[in-house]
Amino acid sequence: MIKKNLIFLVGFMGAGKSTIGLRLARDLKWNFIDLDQEIEKGEGRPIRQIFSEKGESYFRQLETKVLQGLKTRGPSVIALGGGAFIQDINRLLIHELGYSVFLDCALEVIVKRCPQDGTRPLLHSSGGLEALYTSRLPYYQKSDFRVDVSNQSPEQITKTILDHLSAGRIDDAHNINRPVDI
Ligand code: S3P
Repeated sequence: MIKKNLIFLVGFMGAGKSTIGLRLARDLKWNFIDLDQEIEKGEGRPIRQIFSEKGESYFRQLETKVLQGLKTRGPSVIALGGGAFIQDINRLLIHELGYSVFLDCALEVIVKRCPQDGTRPLLHSSGGLEALYTSRLPYYQKSDFRVDVSNQSPEQITKTILDHLSAGRIDDAHNINRPVDI
């Protein structure tokens, strides 16, 4: 069994990382951590403002910094931002600290789900979105486990992940009712 107590949800914007993460954390009685929210809390401003004022590379450094601080957080499900699994340094860290689950969502579904309302600074046009999606897939596929989320309900997706984990892939996930200190 892998002795790890952090589960990282990987995938493109709109794949459902936060929705599924909250459900998984609730069922496991683990903490839920949203990487973007942690960054916003630390910086005291929304992601789009961090991008516009400080630029993407500054934001990427923050992602790595928050990931490095997760060791001390106890059993947790972490929803990553869509770009966090692309940097080698982050993938290595995630691999060392926990177990990664790729929420594999078809591009058509992503396009429907992601409004280009400025909240996600990388969504400038649907053509750009498609290119970004295609360039990221090979990285997402390096995750430990992949779930197809395009045509499944959040309940089904969560169950698939829990069944997979309870087959002994991750420390303590076989006992999903064990309460943990938050
Ligand atoms: C990003 C995805 C966003 C957020 C930021 C950058 C990306 O998170 O981290 O806008 O590079 O794909 P979500 O995937 O939660 O939308």
